[in-house]
Amino acid sequence: MNKRTPLIAGNWKMYKGCRQAVETAKTLLELASEVKDVDIMIAPSFTSLYLVGNILKNSNIKLGAQNICYQKEGAFTGEISTSMLLSCGCRYVIVGHSERREIFKEIDENINKKINAVINSGLIPVLCVGETEDQRDAGDTFKILDKQMELGLKDFFAEDLKNLVIAYEPVWAIGTGKTATDEQAQESHKFIREKIEAQFGKSLAETIRILYGGSVKPANIKQIMNMPDIDGALVGGASLDATTFSEVIKYK
Ligand code: PGA
Repeated sequence: MNKRTPLIAGNWKMYKGCRQAVETAKTLLELASEVKDVDIMIAPSFTSLYLVGNILKNSNIKLGAQNICYQKEGAFTGEISTSMLLSCGCRYVIVGHSERREIFKEIDENINKKINAVINSGLIPVLCVGETEDQRDAGDTFKILDKQMELGLKDFFAEDLKNLVIAYEPVWAIGTGKTATDEQAQESHKFIREKIEAQFGKSLAETIRILYGGSVKPANIKQIMNMPDIDGALVGGASLDATTFSEVIKYK
């Protein structure tokens, strides 16, 4: 049995205005404030961070952001910096989500800069990696994961990455209702852990948390969490409703 504390993270994507975000956060706090053995994070949209941050203050549910600018400050219209996130009470930042990569053409080199900015600010990065359906069908899954890890984590040392979280999210399983089989997920997680070992050594590979993402819900979380290299989940759709998400959190 591994000793890594599980992390269940909710990614609210571009859903919920301020009022809805506050209501959901309050309900989640009522439902999950007693959970002790699982780390919990929710990532609302930027516009709700401050309000949700106030609700979660001093609780067991931590605040995350869905994206970040790698610049410290300046004339970067429409961007949000790490210090802005810290001032809202953020602890985590999701970096390189497949929707950012696919829709907004984010490239590995920028993802690498973002991870660097997040680490330097003391926030915890959640680096998302994963293959598309075409890439899996072509037999390129490991090649893609290897490239995303290699470029995303380029020029870091193991000690920089001690808090890093990785989320393996096969793109074909996100929001589609299709979940990777437990074996498919485990195989990719094992590959990622071995890659971390090769890049940064055994000690980081043993402690790093690797989350699975892609249509995680109350009905499948328990099985997923049974896999030896899966240390938690990044949950989209099923995190939007506080009751449903609390069932995912209380999977044990
Ligand atoms: P999903 O999204 O749970 O709705 O598939 C996961 C994600 O995009 O992080």
